[in-house]
Amino acid sequence: MARRVLVTGGAGFIGSHIVEAYLAAGWEVTVLDDLSRGKASQVPAGVPLITTDIRSDLARATVASGGFDVLNHHAAQIDVRYSVEHPSGDADINIAGFVNVLEGAGKGGVRRVVFASSGGVVYGDPEVIPTGELAPKRPVSPYGVSKLAGEHYLRALGGLYGFEGVALRYANVCGPRQDPKSEAGVVSIFVSRLLADQPLKIFGDGKQTRDYVSVQDVARANVLASDAVLGDSEEHDARAFNIATGVERSVLELAEAVGRVTGRVPVLEMEAARPGEILRSALDRRKAAAVLGWRPEVSFDEGLVSLMEWFQSEG
Ligand SMILES: NC(=O)c1ccc[n+]([C@@H]2O[C@H](COP(=O)([O-])OP(=O)(O)OC[C@H]3O[C@@H](n4cnc5c(N)ncnc54)[C@H](O)[C@@H]3O)[C@@H](O)[C@H]2O)c1
Repeated sequence: MARRVLVTGGAGFIGSHIVEAYLAAGWEVTVLDDLSRGKASQVPAGVPLITTDIRSDLARATVASGGFDVLNHHAAQIDVRYSVEHPSGDADINIAGFVNVLEGAGKGGVRRVVFASSGGVVYGDPEVIPTGELAPKRPVSPYGVSKLAGEHYLRALGGLYGFEGVALRYANVCGPRQDPKSEAGVVSIFVSRLLADQPLKIFGDGKQTRDYVSVQDVARANVLASDAVLGDSEEHDARAFNIATGVERSVLELAEAVGRVTGRVPVLEMEAARPGEILRSALDRRKAAAVLGWRPEVSFDEGLVSLMEWFQSEG
């Protein structure tokens, strides 16, 4: 019998790719999403979509009664700036909403919960690059705190309710369906602006670095994390995995690469550095390779090409 998974946030950017990856691996998939940012059109035909908020009684009851083997949790408010302006609103969705569906997972006998955490925010401004899972966690933004709190609830409630929790700490995820209006999507912003012959804004000197991982690779990591054999350690980081390339790329290098792939010459507009912006970020991916058998397979340029083709197909 096919295994069953509920993907919260499955109508969104990353979640919709995860749904496709589970289907390709033979899973039976249900999506739960309030469509606040996601789109019903991004849910593949034939996949049931339950349109509700993760904070609702319906969401909890759905997880509790659906006979799911795995709860894959990607629904979240993802805007760091919103979390700074409305920390309680962020915590309400990202902590209380997550705990609500975890209660359902406990009642429903879910075997494993895969949680979308963020390596870009839980470590804060890291001292060692590429940053390993055991590095100190010093989130700066309320969004980072809510992701780290989610990891703690995952471990503690997993122990109480008997499910295995896996936290995937993503680097900067990029690829088709990423909203260029979203804060997280610098790659998507650059590609869409260059295709529209608009200048690229660079904050500060452009030497700040990020680790860009393709959404297709992230989706594959989720399927692997749903089945991988995990250790029994009670340590906080034992079941946390960086999902990243480990490669640092500066914003200037990104602008250059986007120019190369789109065949256009980027015009750069230099702006003042943004206060509080982390200068360097790249994550050590060796643990995901050793335990999940995951390695990134999509090259940076291939990822840019697939994003460009998606923008062109969207018109
Ligand atoms: N994009 C990145 O680079 C990145 C990096 C690290 C972690 N993440 C995490 O990955 C997950 C998916 O992010 P994304 O970039 O695909 O964003 P997204 O906004 O495209 O996806 C989030 C989905 O959750 C849904 N949603 C939001 N609030 C909800 C609520 N209260 N109830 C039900 N559904 C709700 C939205 O409609 C959307 O479909 C998030 O948990 C995010 O924090 C993303």
